[in-house]
This record gives sequence, C-alpha cells and structure tokens, in this order.
Amino acid sequence: MEKDQKSEQKLRSAEWFGKTDKMGFIYRSWMKNQGFPEHLFDGRPVIGICNTWSELTPCNAHFRDIAEVVKRGVYEAGGFPLEFPITSLGETLMKPTAMLFRNLASMDAEESIRANPLDGVVLLTGCDKTTPSTVMGAASVDLPTLVVPGGAMLNGKYRGKDIGSGTDVWRFTDELRAGTMTPKDYLSAESCMSRSNGHCMTMGTASTMACMVEALGLTLPGAAAIPAPDSRRKVLAQLSGRRIVHMVKENLTISQVLTREAFENAIRVNAAVGGSTNFIIHLLAIAGRVGVELTLDDFDRLGSKIPLLVNLMPSGKYLMEDFFYAGGLPVVLQEMKEHLHLGAMTITGKTMGQRIEEAEAEGHNPEVITPFEVPLRKEAGIAVLKGNLCEDGAVIKPSAATPRLMQHRGRAVVFESIEDYHARIDDPDLDVDETCVLVLKGVGPKGYPGMPEVGNMGLPKKVLAKGVLDMVRISDGRMSGTAFGTVVLHVCPESAIGGTLAFVHNGDMIELDVPNRRLHLDVAEEELARRRRSWQSAEPLANRGYVQLYINHVQQANKGADLDFLVGKSGSQVTRDSH
Ligand code: FES
Repeated sequence: MEKDQKSEQKLRSAEWFGKTDKMGFIYRSWMKNQGFPEHLFDGRPVIGICNTWSELTPCNAHFRDIAEVVKRGVYEAGGFPLEFPITSLGETLMKPTAMLFRNLASMDAEESIRANPLDGVVLLTGCDKTTPSTVMGAASVDLPTLVVPGGAMLNGKYRGKDIGSGTDVWRFTDELRAGTMTPKDYLSAESCMSRSNGHCMTMGTASTMACMVEALGLTLPGAAAIPAPDSRRKVLAQLSGRRIVHMVKENLTISQVLTREAFENAIRVNAAVGGSTNFIIHLLAIAGRVGVELTLDDFDRLGSKIPLLVNLMPSGKYLMEDFFYAGGLPVVLQEMKEHLHLGAMTITGKTMGQRIEEAEAEGHNPEVITPFEVPLRKEAGIAVLKGNLCEDGAVIKPSAATPRLMQHRGRAVVFESIEDYHARIDDPDLDVDETCVLVLKGVGPKGYPGMPEVGNMGLPKKVLAKGVLDMVRISDGRMSGTAFGTVVLHVCPESAIGGTLAFVHNGDMIELDVPNRRLHLDVAEEELARRRRSWQSAEPLANRGYVQLYINHVQQANKGADLDFLVGKSGSQVTRDSH
C-alpha cells in the first residue's frame, strides 16, 4: 500500500501498533514471536479473520484452508491478516441444542472483535448458527465487515440417486420405522449423504443463511451457492480478503449495509429460495443488533406473496450443487429485481441494483431456478399466524407443507415435553389418527431451554403404517431447515411462561387456517381462564452459569430469541483504555 493512502485516515489498530511507548513495544513485540516482520506494523489495515473452524463442527472443518486463502487476498491488497477462533456451533453434535449457544457465540464474536486491534473483519461461516452468531456480534461492534460462507457439501449420492442432508434423513427414518427400509440400508446411506467438505446441501438453515448474507449484501456476488470443494470457493475467499482491505479504506461499516432496505430484500429473497423458518429468528436478532425495526408481521407482509423460484429440497427436488450450476443467487436476484430495493448498499461499495446489472446473470437450468413468471409455487414465503393459541404469533412454511392440510380442524393429542413425546408416540394404545393435531409443549426458548429443532415431530408408527406422511403439528419449538410437513412453529408466548399453548388438553379441537392466518384453540374463554388459574410453571432447569443467564434473559421467538441485554450495539470503542 502507498504511504499517502495509509496516512489518509487514522486506523483503529494504530491505538495498539502505532504507539511508540512501552505499550507499543508490548503490543508489537509479542506479535513478533510469530515471525511477523516490522513492516506489517506500519499502519496498514489489520484484518481479523473470525474463524468458526472446529472438528466438532464438521460443516466448518475445512475453514483453516479457507482462512489461509483469505489471508492471501488481504496481503495482496496491502493489509495485515490475523486469524482468531471463536466458539463454533456444530448443529449435529451439540446438546441440548446449538441454538442455546448462538447468543453466547455472538458475545464471543463481539467481544473478540472489539477487544483487539482490528480495523476490519472477515467472518467465516457455515453450519447453521455460525452465520447469525458472528453477524450479530460483528453488527454490535460495527466495523467494516464481510462474510465468506464456507459452501455446501456436494450432492449426496445413494444407489444412483441424489440424496439431501437432513431431508432424506427424515424420510429414511420414517421408512425405517414403517419397516420399508432395512437397518443395513439405513447405515449404508450415512456415508453416501455426507461425502465432501461443506454444510448441508439442501436449502436447510445453513444454505438459507448463506443466501441471507448474500441478499443482505454482506458477501461478494455469488458467494452462497459455490460448493465447498469447488476451486471457485477459494477464489471467492481470496477476493474477499482483498475487498475487506478496501472496505476499511472506504470506512464502509456493516451498519451501512444492514439497512431496513437490506432486511426487506433478504425477506423477499428467502421466500423465493424456499428458505428455512430459522431465518426469521436469526434475521430478527440481527436487526435488533443494528437497531432496525423488524417485526414478525414484516415476514408475512413482504414475503408471503413472493413466488418460489428455487427448486431445492425440502420445498423442491434439487440440491445446492445444482443451484450453483444453474447460476446461484445472482440469477434469483436478477429474476426478482423488481421486488428488491435496488438502492441498498452492499459490501462491494456498489448498490444491489448495480451488482445485479453488472452480474448480467443468466439462468442455466429453468428447472432449478424458474423464471419469475412461471414459478414453482405462486406464494412461497413464510405465513405468520395469529389467534388465541399464539397471541404474539406463530409461523408455518407453506412451501414445505401439504396443501390440503392448510385448512384443518382436528383433535389435539398433547405431549407435555419432548421426553413425553418420545415415550408415547409409538404406543399402540395412543389415541391418535391422521386427522389429529400433534401438540408439543415445553420446547420454546426458555422452556427447553434453547428452542430445539423438534417441531417436525415424527408421525406415530400406526399412522405411518397407513402410508400417511403428514399431519398438522404445533409447538413452541423450531424445526430443522431441512425438514418438511404441515408444521406450526415458534408459538408465542411459549408454554413455559404460561402462553395458551400450556393450557391445551387432549381432545381439545384446534383450527388451523393458513389462508386466513389463524390458529385457534376451540375452548371457551371461561374454561381457559380456569385452566390458567390452576397452572404452575416448571422449575428452571439451571441455577448457575450461562444456561441460567440464558433462561433469565432470552426473549421470545417473535423478537429473535436474543438476550435482552445484547439488543443494540456498543460500537468499536473499547470500554476502558488505561494504557
Ligand atoms: Fe451443519 Fe446442517 S449440520 S449445516
């Protein structure tokens, strides 16, 4: 970098590396034990590479390689890259649920960024929660920030057919329980499903999050769809490393990208790609960090009329690799540009409109990405339900549901907890048939705690045996983005804090009416009041540590399930600087 460019603005990192006193000695000297030469401390932008690598997060296990390539780009543009780890959240292994730790990881990201001599940040994200947690944390600091998603796995291949992460696990598991798949075949499908680096390759939560950050303008164009092992993922990483250095020079902070318009774009794009319901919770939480007013109703109002353009599991048939070959998100943005805020700024320093225009994206497979005029479904976005069973809202993903169940009245079969569900669901004496509504309590943010992905409860064996594959299910939990079915989720207020869901009894009649956005418990108000009076909340599951902090401070799903004291931002100023 030229000397005159460097001197144009005082960088944040100069408060550490620019000092000539004892503290400057300390700041630089210990860094030099890694072999960094003197010239790297000459006032060039210091770029943090926030790495969510972990062998316990298999979807992000290739991130050390990606970080090295990002560094190439940073050096190439005259910056000084420094990689740092934060808490990594692996969806498949963490118990009780990775969601319990999303806010913890966001605190880790926020404090790690603020406390260190960084001028800009690259977030390496992949598995579901690693995207929202890092973006939330970075948004609360508000430095120039961009995201490099790690990419999806290659398509699963099983006996000549493509199989999708998650989606086919649910399908195979139902087949195993119904006796139409052998345990041996079930085992052999495991390694066929996950055969390369990368995250789930369905339009599950990780792919949804990758599309979300691209639609928000936080990545370089085309970042969401490149498969993890494809060499172009490394090209993206290197170019991102170059770009972040320029963002620092331009002082293009994350809050200039995360505007109300950007959030509205993301909501509409999520509908078009058939994204996960988890998107709602994470986007609400991110908006809360940057002070953008976003409500549950915005998702329905802005997204529900947007057609489904992307034919990926679980709403459709194909997988992320196919999405990439068909042109990826730039084609979707091109198709729906009349429904986007084209003036929204992106990390490239160009508006969304300029990006779309320059990309001149062409679709290569209309079966995978359909033209806007001939969509897979006319209305695909998330529907927000209201009613006496969910005064503050509940959500359903119509594109993953069974059309004939979208208006349904059925008898409630109630499970008081997930343990109760597991104990009784296959009991031959359970009084249930396919017209019933399965109700699960105690899986909300405070109740579980952490709001696990159990809302897509497997159907009772005796219903599956009849060949029935879907029933209406209702809970205060979440469901995996790879799951499907007529599943009402995120019921607010949750049962653990005395939401009406807590008072549903076996045999009560429940009406689901998605076209009219209604979820109604058909029980007289006097009877509900009587039940309410005799209700007692359960003992909290933790009396110390992070889990207690979480239970005491987590907000409801309609607010993004962030901790109340994390909403907003503190900026990049360190709390005290006595040196
Ligand atoms: Fe990591 Fe699905 S388990 S993305």
